[in-house]
Parts: sequence; structure tokens; C-alpha cells
Amino acid sequence: MLDALPLNADAASKRAHYSAVFDSIKALLENESDWVAGMATVVCELHQSFGYYHWTGFYRVVRDQHLKIGPYQGTHGCIDIPLARGVCGAAARTGKTQLVPDVEAFPGHIACSSSTQSEIVVPVFNPQGELLAVFDVDSNDLAAFDEVDQEQLEEIMAYYGQRFPGMPRA
Ligand code: SME
Repeated sequence: MLDALPLNADAASKRAHYSAVFDSIKALLENESDWVAGMATVVCELHQSFGYYHWTGFYRVVRDQHLKIGPYQGTHGCIDIPLARGVCGAAARTGKTQLVPDVEAFPGHIACSSSTQSEIVVPVFNPQGELLAVFDVDSNDLAAFDEVDQEQLEEIMAYYGQRFPGMPRA
């Protein structure tokens, strides 16, 4: 496992670090088809590789307009989130990444942990373009995530959705 990248890393170092983590994820999951194993591995590899990731996990799309907690690392996460609420709900409703530099300024943000200051949530689609899940990273630092995190996480989540399309919609 790589040493954790610090918050103040420059864009080139950050891109190179994401690329190395992504290579490691692809190698670890090369012969794996189980979607839970896939999620757990993606979460672990990313969470341990970035010093500013303080909560990292998936929320799965389930019936009745809700998101349900999936594999994660960090302190306890909210178990169930209505699609109508929060940053995760906004990513799920719009199908667009939500980059939130200051969670206090985001109307309807759900505070699972009082230490969270910034957040990024990336939607995950299957090959048919249906929303499977959202990937949420929270940081205790303000404005921890930028367009490099967004571009790299979108690439990793596109890979996940293509590699593990069998995930059931509960
Ligand atoms: N902050 C998120 C909720 C999930 S947790 O922070 C782990 C939101 O507003 O959707």
C-alpha cells in the first residue's frame, strides 16, 4: 500500500498518486466478480492512500427513493439517506458529481460526523446508464477536494460500474 498523499500535494503528484492507486485496485480485482468485494477493495485502497480522506464509502440505490450504506471506512456513517436529502441525494438525483468545499454552505447537508468540513460525492452507473450507487468521501479539512480528485474519482467509478454491473438494485 502506498504512503498517504498529503492535502497540500501539487496537481501532478496527485494525478500520479491516483493513477498508482487505480493500478493497484485493477490488479487486486483482476479475477474478482463479486460486487461487495469490489466496493470494499475500492474503498480501502482509496481511504488508506490519501491523508485528507476521513470517511470513504458507497451508498447503494435501493427501492423507495433511498440510498443505503455500503462498504465504508471511517467512523459510523448514516445508514439510510432519502434521495431528496443531502449531498449524496443531490449526486443521485442529478447524476452529477457534487464537489462541496464547505459543507456548512450546502443546504440540506447531512452531518453524519461533526468533524466533516468538505465532501465529494460521485455517482456510479452500470453499463446501461442506470444509477447503481454514489461514492462519498468526507474530509475534516476545508476545501480538501478539487477538480483533480473529481476527474480521477469519476474515472475510477466508471471502471467500477463497468466491472461490477451485476450489483442488485434491492
Ligand atoms: N454528508 C452526506 C451524508 C453521508 S455521511 O457524511 C457519511 C450527505 O450530506 O449526503
